[in-house]
Amino acid sequence: MALKQHLDDKVRFDQQVDNCRSDVMPFIEQTKPIGKGINVMEMGCGEGGVMLPFAERGCYCVGVDLDEIRTDLAKEFLKDEIAAGKIAILYQNVYDQDFLDKYKGFFDIIILKDVIEHIPNQEAFIPYLKTFLKEGGQIFFGFPPWYMPFGGHQQIARHKLGMMPYYHILPKPVYKGVLKMIGEDKGIIDELMNVYDTRITIERFERIVKKSGLKVLHKQHYLFNPIYRYKFGVKPRKQFGLISAIPFFRNFLTTCVYYTVG
Ligand SMILES: C[S@@+](CC[C@H](N)C(=O)[O-])C[C@H]1O[C@@H](n2cnc3c(N)ncnc32)[C@H](O)[C@@H]1O
Repeated sequence: MALKQHLDDKVRFDQQVDNCRSDVMPFIEQTKPIGKGINVMEMGCGEGGVMLPFAERGCYCVGVDLDEIRTDLAKEFLKDEIAAGKIAILYQNVYDQDFLDKYKGFFDIIILKDVIEHIPNQEAFIPYLKTFLKEGGQIFFGFPPWYMPFGGHQQIARHKLGMMPYYHILPKPVYKGVLKMIGEDKGIIDELMNVYDTRITIERFERIVKKSGLKVLHKQHYLFNPIYRYKFGVKPRKQFGLISAIPFFRNFLTTCVYYTVG
């Protein structure tokens, strides 16, 4: 079932801007001052809306994404900020050598919102991200844990049955078999299989952060993801402390987590 933001790129951009202003920026600000002289990278920036509130506060922002259609949209939506030298949008892989050479040790803040669950080998990727940080820099992660009702991203399925909660945690061949049986497109199945392969839980994320020599500076688990206000008209709701404290089980009822690490 296509939502408004899936059909209209500007709606998606505006939601990224609002989500950043209302949730992401206030969260980051609890551990890192935001303002002039602060360099921000959004890795996997999509249409780039998350960077606009940072640019408005005087930060210099670099958005990077592998998807050219989305970076072209970002360049259009942010053309004034780009012309003013406040934002740069790059259609690039962060693993490219020239990206590393240019931005090694450059950023005060790196943002990955709804991205880390799509990245293969997070054990190597998170330490790699560290190389882009200045001394005292911080990384923000926001992601849906794998075991949450729609942690497989099955909401992108075209068939109603494909959007059922929790069945993504079946063994991979069974999950793929169900998707084939209900006639999902090959492209959608491939995308869902990619998320299956890169799936991340709260516990594995925290283990990787620790192993990378980073510390959790701030975290918030949500019962209702802040972006559900746009998807379902539901207000964001923090997870109950008791549920948040139960390892593994908490993943099943936590639709989103925010972390800053550094
Ligand atoms: C779900 S979108 C999130 C977009 C945006 N951050 C937001 O919150 O709306 C994930 C994005 O990460 C990008 N991405 C994945 N791997 C990447 C890589 N190695 N380098 C740059 N971008 C990447 C994808 O192209 C995609 O646009």
